Amino acid sequence: MRRLRIGVLASGRGTNLQALIDASREGRLLGEVVIVLSDVASAMALERARKAGIQACYIEPGRKGARLASESEARYIEVLDEARVDLVALAGFMRILSPDFVRHYKLRIMNIHPSLLPSFPGLRAQKQALEYGVKISGCTVHFVDEGVDTGPIIIQAAVPVLEGDTEASLSERILKEEHRIYTEAINLFAQQRLRVEGRIVHVLPLRCMNAGYNPDQTE
Ligand code: GRF
Repeated sequence: MRRLRIGVLASGRGTNLQALIDASREGRLLGEVVIVLSDVASAMALERARKAGIQACYIEPGRKGARLASESEARYIEVLDEARVDLVALAGFMRILSPDFVRHYKLRIMNIHPSLLPSFPGLRAQKQALEYGVKISGCTVHFVDEGVDTGPIIIQAAVPVLEGDTEASLSERILKEEHRIYTEAINLFAQQRLRVEGRIVHVLPLRCMNAGYNPDQTE
């Protein structure tokens, strides 16, 4: 099986990106990050990519706010297509993608979110969880659909909320699990073991591998 080509979109420090780069280097990821794109020129994620010898581009968002300008989004698609990515992995990308973008990479975009969705979607999920008073939080890897943090769930990991936790301490505990489950989710995708039926993502046993997404398949 050929290794999955992954394009990562990130706006910030890029620890999830780094976890994927490390996992790939250590042979724990069935794919490689071939390109990293950011809407923030100074994003540490871009620096991490360059350091690892991965193509890294800042693409102007074209506007302020939650979405990219349409010309800018078209450029993201162009560059990702040129890089022949099989999967787009959002890792702290602070923009909402348009329905056109989501359709272009249908069920080939993943996101990682620091809560047990559908609880606490959107910004500062860990703070929301603390303020709500939940005793268990965690993280979720999901396919991206047209909503915000609403797509079909691939994997979740639970993390306890401890007495005296701050946003920072809870975030740190969750982040460790994020780094673990993002790799795991991408490996299931690379092994073609994810079959999506409506909201439900079925994880197929290894022997049924051919029923899921096949990067070698041409339509
Ligand atoms: C992570 O908490 C991720 O769940 C959220 O944004 C944060 C990105 O962190 N979507 P990093 O840039 O990967 O360190």
